[in-house]
Amino acid sequence: MENKTMVFFMVLTLGFQTCFGSEQHYTSGLGDPGMKGDGLRVAFEAWNFCNEVGEEAPEMGSPRAADCFDFSSSILKHRVTEADNKLGVGNPFLGLSPQALNNTDLYAAEKELYLASLCEVKDTSNPWQFWMVMLKNGNYDTMSGLCPENGKKAAPFKPGRFPCFGDGCMNQPLLYHQPTGFVGKDKMRGGFNGTYDLGSEIGKGLDGISFFEVVWEKNVGGKWVFKHKLKTTKKYPWLMLYLRADATKGFSGGYHYDTRGMMKLLPESPNFKVRVTLDVKKGGGPQSQFYLIDIGSCWKNNGSPCDGDVLTDVTRYSEMIINPETAAWCNPKNLINCPPFHIDPNDRKIYRNDTANFPYSAYHYYCAPGNAQHLEKPVSLCDPYSNPQAQELVQLLPHPIWAKYGYPTKQGQGWVGDPKTWELDVGGLSSRLYFYQDPGTTPAKRIWTSIDMGTEIYVSIKDEVAEWTLSDFDVLLTSPPTDQRSDHIHNVTPSL
Ligand SMILES: *[C@@H]1O[C@H](CO)[C@@H](O)[C@H](O)[C@H]1NC(C)=O
Ligand SMILES: *[C@@H]1O[C@H](CO)[C@@H](O)[C@H](O)[C@H]1NC(C)=O
Ligand SMILES: *[C@@H]1O[C@H](CO)[C@@H](O)[C@H](O)[C@H]1NC(C)=O
Repeated sequence: MENKTMVFFMVLTLGFQTCFGSEQHYTSGLGDPGMKGDGLRVAFEAWNFCNEVGEEAPEMGSPRAADCFDFSSSILKHRVTEADNKLGVGNPFLGLSPQALNNTDLYAAEKELYLASLCEVKDTSNPWQFWMVMLKNGNYDTMSGLCPENGKKAAPFKPGRFPCFGDGCMNQPLLYHQPTGFVGKDKMRGGFNGTYDLGSEIGKGLDGISFFEVVWEKNVGGKWVFKHKLKTTKKYPWLMLYLRADATKGFSGGYHYDTRGMMKLLPESPNFKVRVTLDVKKGGGPQSQFYLIDIGSCWKNNGSPCDGDVLTDVTRYSEMIINPETAAWCNPKNLINCPPFHIDPNDRKIYRNDTANFPYSAYHYYCAPGNAQHLEKPVSLCDPYSNPQAQELVQLLPHPIWAKYGYPTKQGQGWVGDPKTWELDVGGLSSRLYFYQDPGTTPAKRIWTSIDMGTEIYVSIKDEVAEWTLSDFDVLLTSPPTDQRSDHIHNVTPSL
């Protein structure tokens, strides 16, 4: 159970007077507020099209790894060994369940918990584990029958709808780890990188091969800066790379199993803000859906919290895409791509058929959960295969209507050549977004289990490279968290 008194120990008084008008008290929801600690906790995970593993890449082990160390008197004391990082299906570790030993998907979920147990910081009654680097390959071999349809087991179907070069297109990547160490008197650096092109050598140049990399750097006493790179190719045209602050327990956005993370107190709309510095160096081409911030959670269509039943759980995402080349699919001629209504800062509802007032260009795309029973037509259903369960997406674009929440108001803000520190009222904005719910049911508590940033290069036409750095990441709770966390987040046994 939550211990309410502990909140007092963690209240940070941040004087954002110029930004928020008056001095307010904030509680950071993160284990490492603002990425400042000299010790660091980072993990890595790679996902196939439906957020699972499928088949491990040869000699790479299960695609979960971590770099976690304590820092004292200029010594880095690592907590995770390379042997831990290389653990793969068939190899037991402490706490592994018998069902997971030979099952690549279950094995990865339990390996994450195991790595987290090595990394865990028990600084308060709310222990925390790590930042999560998430990498996803959007190839889907429809003949494999590997991905469920809105959570239901689905039969194989004819290729064409999804990128796939043929057998093995859903493979996991080659992963290389540079354990954090000193690269100068006061500078620390570490990283993960790799490629999806099995058999290629990234040391010999990246021509024609896919690539991903996250490198973290810090001067002792300074702050961590995370440098990201992502490259698509013809064989791997749909790749995603994010840095996530996930919940320290329960189901984070897009998972159907217990996860670990950095958010020891969960943000609930409207009472939180996100602070982050973003410097986009290369955009990644016209298909790069760069998410200034992406929030993810899970609740059922009747408003109840998720419980791991993939037939009724629904992943909910909302994100602002800041690539100025992204057009609004939602427009007066395509109401099917718009949410049924917009709610303005004065809580006024504006229907999408109200062409004089609806802010069409503030929305890129809305899609509804495939298992919803009472949808308003016309409606576009979200892709049923790319998550372990049904999903709902609300994708935004920079627009003056979002000014009140500190989001970009014009295309190009925060993009290449415009590095910025953002203080986003993500809570305020997300409290006013439309999300589907069954008629007559109690509105879901909008408690977010994942907050992340990065890009989804959504089927590039040619090889593209995105490059960006991220620092100062913090999630600030603007009122003490309520007890809602304990009933929203169920403790589930790792093996389902
Ligand atoms: C796991 O696989 C190994 C080798 O294929 C086999 O010997 C073992 O019986 C399997 N264990 C379980 C629990 O299925
Ligand atoms: C990838 O990481 C490895 C290990 O840290 C490093 O030796 C190599 O230079 C990196 N490759 C690229 C292309 O950056
Ligand atoms: C606009 O949509 C709302 C909600 O669906 C509906 O009640 C209303 O009748 C529509 N108005 C027009 C002019 O079509």
